[in-house]
Amino acid sequence: MAQQFDVVVIGGGPGGYIAAIRAAQLGFSTACIESDAYADPKGAVRLGGTCLNVGCIPSKALLRSSELFETANHGFAAHGITAAAVKMDVATMMRRKDDIVAQLTTGIKGLFKKNKVTLLPGRGSFAGRADGLWQIEVAGKDGVVAVAATHVIVATGSSPRHLDGIPVDNKTICDNVGALALDAAPKRLGVIGAGVIGLELGSVWQRLGADVTILEALPDFLAAADPAVAKEAWKVFTKQQGLKINLGVKITGVKQTKKGKQTVVNVSYETSAGAFTLECDKLIVSVGRVPNIAGLGGDAVGLQLDERGCIAANEHCQTNLENVWAVGDVIRGPMLAHKAMEEGVMVAELIAGQAGHVNYDVIPWVIYTHPEIAWVGKTETQLKNEGVEFKSGQIPFMANGRALGQGDSTGFVRMLACAKTDTILGVHVIGANASELIAEAVVAMEFGAVAEDIARICHAHPTLSEVMHEAALAVDKRALHF
Ligand code: FAD
Ligand code: NAI
Repeated sequence: MAQQFDVVVIGGGPGGYIAAIRAAQLGFSTACIESDAYADPKGAVRLGGTCLNVGCIPSKALLRSSELFETANHGFAAHGITAAAVKMDVATMMRRKDDIVAQLTTGIKGLFKKNKVTLLPGRGSFAGRADGLWQIEVAGKDGVVAVAATHVIVATGSSPRHLDGIPVDNKTICDNVGALALDAAPKRLGVIGAGVIGLELGSVWQRLGADVTILEALPDFLAAADPAVAKEAWKVFTKQQGLKINLGVKITGVKQTKKGKQTVVNVSYETSAGAFTLECDKLIVSVGRVPNIAGLGGDAVGLQLDERGCIAANEHCQTNLENVWAVGDVIRGPMLAHKAMEEGVMVAELIAGQAGHVNYDVIPWVIYTHPEIAWVGKTETQLKNEGVEFKSGQIPFMANGRALGQGDSTGFVRMLACAKTDTILGVHVIGANASELIAEAVVAMEFGAVAEDIARICHAHPTLSEVMHEAALAVDKRALHF
């Protein structure tokens, strides 16, 4: 007879492993199926999904290394420090990144043991329903094993979207996987897509010496961000840091050719100014991600998809099938690890009859460029489109002693609050440590705070968080330091 569980999770990324741990904490017999997509060098399954293996964590490790290199080259002099002949050994940088990934993915296996989650290595798929239980097949190295489950949580995540006619080999033309594993900084790096990956990984390789050109289809830069932030980011990235970003681009062809021993990529594109060709040594394709549906057997059991090809799910992550749930990148909403994890917790708690809940209005966004960009809630554009009257307070880091002391005073905090009630509607930060500073705004908005609440809270001095405080004061036109 098939092994039986209360909860079977398909996919061991942030959505899946967290759902499994929470379900087990709540007393359910729980299994998590993970394929060998990110197997370690010995072939053992690795948990953590895109995030830990080829996403959030490795990209932040490389961002940090490249920032240190940049600082040693260009930031020390102002402090009176001379660092001669600063060199970057890319192989050591990559080993450090790989060690962090190994440490964290192994850690999740430890968490599974601690919480008594059974790891089922292999590819999971629906095989039908019998006696009120979902029948799931796990195709592993040693053949197919069948398990039965009362509840199934699909957390199969997403994969990079590739473009027709642009074959990704992850050597010369790369998606996120290859872009996180180059063995040297290319002389000339082309990037298709000025989204989050294009900006983060473009920055990494630029700091390490690459001449980076980004080709973006949309006419606006960072259209999802607040317009004031997008404008500042454009200025800093292009004028101060020298990233070349071309907007309103239509890619018309990509060709790989040999120049002597070297492979080069020619990207043909058009803009309103004419037709151009970009010659580069490596090309990153970062044009969004697609949900992982293939091979799941969803069709056979009638699992519905939405108009974007994601698994259709309501605000509680319920699918159209009884006791089948879906979380993370495979469903609607932002493709973010913390959103996936929140959904994993919610679903496990709903299965347990508790009041699981995700507040989709208060999910923070962070882009880990330098300066960092972070926001929560509505942008000015959204509020205008919705006809909401608002007031705003904007304070530059230049007016903050700590930012000056750290030599990192680019950017600002911008707070948008309801004109009538003062309720905080959105907070937008571009600047050092924006990823950490945004947490205060998230807490405030989660508790329904008004701008005056933050204005009346004592913030430690001297800290960058004082800029958040001043922005709240500025909403009421009573900033003290600006
Ligand atoms: P995934 O992490 O994709 O995990 C799904 C898992 O399911 C995978 O391990 C896959 O192998 C497995 N799987 C798929 N199908 C099957 C099957 N049939 N059987 C068994 N297993 C299966 N987000 C942030 O919040 N912050 C960041 O800084 C950030 N940086 C990123 C940087 C990069 C370069 C990339 C690519 C992404 C980044 N993200 C970031 C996004 C984040 O990685 C995803 O939103 C997150 O991993 C989604 O989690 P998930 O569990 O839904 O899916
Ligand atoms: P993205 O959606 O952020 O950006 C893709 C960009 O490519 C967009 O600007 C889009 O207009 C452009 N584009 C699409 N088709 C194009 C074409 N044919 N030619 C030129 N440009 C084109 O997607 P990205 O950067 O691939 O990242 C995928 C997802 O991974 C993100 O949406 C995000 O959810 C997640 N991620 C999150 C990070 C974070 O939280 N810091 C970091 C990296 C990724």
